[in-house]
Amino acid sequence: MTVVELHGVTKTYGTGPAALTVLHDLDLGVEAGDYMAVVGPSGSGKSTLLHVMGALDRPSTGRVRFAGDDVTAMSDAALSRVRAVHLGFVFQQFFLLDGRSALENVADGLLYQGVRRPERLRRAREALDRVGLGARAGHTPTELSGGECQRVAVARALVHGPRVLLADEPTGNLDQASGAAVLDLFDTLHEEGATIVVVTHDEHIAGRLPRVVSMRDGRVEHDTCPVPPSSAGVTS
Ligand SMILES: Nc1ncnc2c1ncn2[C@@H]1O[C@H](COP(=O)(O)OP(=O)(O)O)[C@@H](O)[C@H]1O
Ligand SMILES: [Mg+2]
Repeated sequence: MTVVELHGVTKTYGTGPAALTVLHDLDLGVEAGDYMAVVGPSGSGKSTLLHVMGALDRPSTGRVRFAGDDVTAMSDAALSRVRAVHLGFVFQQFFLLDGRSALENVADGLLYQGVRRPERLRRAREALDRVGLGARAGHTPTELSGGECQRVAVARALVHGPRVLLADEPTGNLDQASGAAVLDLFDTLHEEGATIVVVTHDEHIAGRLPRVVSMRDGRVEHDTCPVPPSSAGVTS
């Protein structure tokens, strides 16, 4: 099954002579169970691509389908719902709330679902166990290392059982050992069936993932496992 499909996606920032097109007519599919790196030099459009895939941003032209649904024409409220229910995000900056424990930060990932607090905390505890941080649940981000903070952020991204985990330079703020631990965690999650897209400018990281999409100047320069047009190109 193709989870995310981009058809002829273009993204232009600004208008008139200042307009900058950063994605050019992209076609790309992400299959359920994919473990994919998006690699390329700084400014090649990786983050923009991730934002469009994750419905954080709209394409200027083209279509984005999520689990078969065209999200291009959805209202902002509907897009928020797609994000909250189906997607998990991890960023270079962890975006954890400082005054709250790891457990509460993770539980917040369920606020949108209307899950009651005891159940939120139970699931958050489970998610923290999954990333190996069950014992640190009561600590606040300032009491945790960068690597631990990123694992808390991964737990928060997973707690609602998203279809896809999207990560933008998830090891960018980490030393090598902590970064490797985060990638080992992704490997495990992928073995357990998760669909994961990791944006990175680090070829070494990309090299360990089964699928690598290389971006250059807003275009896919190479894709090691392209999704066949028969499934990626469906229109209705
Ligand atoms: N909100 C924005 N407004 C204007 N230009 C932007 C915006 N976001 C990104 N860009 C530009 O788009 C290009 C691609 O950026 P980005 O997707 O962040 O690349 P990467 O993640 O590969 O470094 C860059 O030239 C960047 O300056
Ligand atoms: Mg980027």
